[in-house]
Amino acid sequence: MNQPSSAYKLIASHNRDIQVRLYTPAHQGIGQHSNRLSQEIYQYDLPFLTRPRTESLEQHFSQLYGTKHTFWLTGGGTQGVLTACALLGTQYKRVAIALNSHISAIHGIILAGLEPYFIPSVSLMPTTEEVISALETSDVSALLLTHPSYEGITIDIDKIADYCREREIALVVDEAHGSHFPFLDEQWQSAINSGADLVTHSLHKYTGSLVQTALLHLPSCSRFTIEQVMGVMPLFETTTRSNLLILSIEDTIKKGYSEEGQALFWQAIQECDRLRRQLDSYGKVLTYDRQVSDPMKLYLKSDRVTGEELAQLLYNCGIDGEFDDEHGLLLIFSFNHSHHDFQFMRKTLAKVVPILREKAPIETLPDSYFCRSPKMKILPKEAFFSRKEKLPLGQAVGKISGCCIKKVPPGSPILIPGEEISQWHQQRLSPETVVEVVE
Ligand SMILES: Cc1ncc(COP(=O)(O)O)c(C=O)c1O
Repeated sequence: MNQPSSAYKLIASHNRDIQVRLYTPAHQGIGQHSNRLSQEIYQYDLPFLTRPRTESLEQHFSQLYGTKHTFWLTGGGTQGVLTACALLGTQYKRVAIALNSHISAIHGIILAGLEPYFIPSVSLMPTTEEVISALETSDVSALLLTHPSYEGITIDIDKIADYCREREIALVVDEAHGSHFPFLDEQWQSAINSGADLVTHSLHKYTGSLVQTALLHLPSCSRFTIEQVMGVMPLFETTTRSNLLILSIEDTIKKGYSEEGQALFWQAIQECDRLRRQLDSYGKVLTYDRQVSDPMKLYLKSDRVTGEELAQLLYNCGIDGEFDDEHGLLLIFSFNHSHHDFQFMRKTLAKVVPILREKAPIETLPDSYFCRSPKMKILPKEAFFSRKEKLPLGQAVGKISGCCIKKVPPGSPILIPGEEISQWHQQRLSPETVVEVVE
């Protein structure tokens, strides 16, 4: 059991000479019931890799990230955000969040009894100036920022972290959409190196690990200690973490920092740049959002069709994107895409441009369509755990919400517990919506 540098070795060294295993899990490493899941999967699914057993393994890999400690999570980025909120709840009360926060941040705020202060912004992702001005004018003691945005927009996280440090504001960065940043060139900096106190990664999103894998980083300059994180961690963790997810985390970190992994990322970045250069020649008929600085993302836009129509056009040609709406179509590339995939992309873009050119220009909704200034009436925790009744949205205007409604993807809340239900909600949500209101 003394092989801290690999979960594979830890598993392989377990009870090698034992003939009969009289303990859980009942499969005992033998997969008899499945003709889909290989025998190997079951072999690796024991023993239980409890936190104490994997602590030194995590320590070993934390060195790669340059953190005080990087905690491996098997409950998704959600577990990281919930844990971070619980930790904030032990010391702080009022926390600034942006409109692009994930629903898990609201759930964490509910559970931790925190008071959210929404950063006023003209689009869902606030600018650096909007964040700093909100911190200057509110009396928050913590900031929970979702950065980069789902679309891949980044702001000056170094400047924000410096500001927070000067004013003693705790900074948590939900870097779900930047889990690949530590593996890239330093121009795409992770908040781990910016002076954040906690950084969460939804690892599976961009690095190739299995779904539900995630990381919670305690950067080297964090105001929090390993013991403080461990104090709240059990609140959101199963006592029997999946070995398969743990192995997948190990594989991914090793690959991300390997020469081979870095070369693959670099190749994909160069291919994406080539696509951008091609798009530069199409004008507004087919273009990309230049605010997006994630090198692996293209947020396509056209002045001839909505994002939904563009998605359909590409889908008919054999390309399925991540997300589309009125404004555009988000395409996410990875190190797994081959030269052939990029070639196919280039050909397809060239093919759809003449089709788009035939169409008349359209008007789209402004970027601020989903922006609101939430009016908080009571604490989310109080509203969530109070007596509630269900009402059709039309009859709920002016009442206090006891529930969350999110926009999917990416799961940003457009109504949260404790918020006053307003005309804005009535205009944006379907008239059939039923909401829970505080009695
Ligand atoms: C910003 C953000 N944070 C956290 C999460 C939660 O991550 P996971 O799905 O891995 O639990 C998501 C997922 O979409 C997200 O977009």
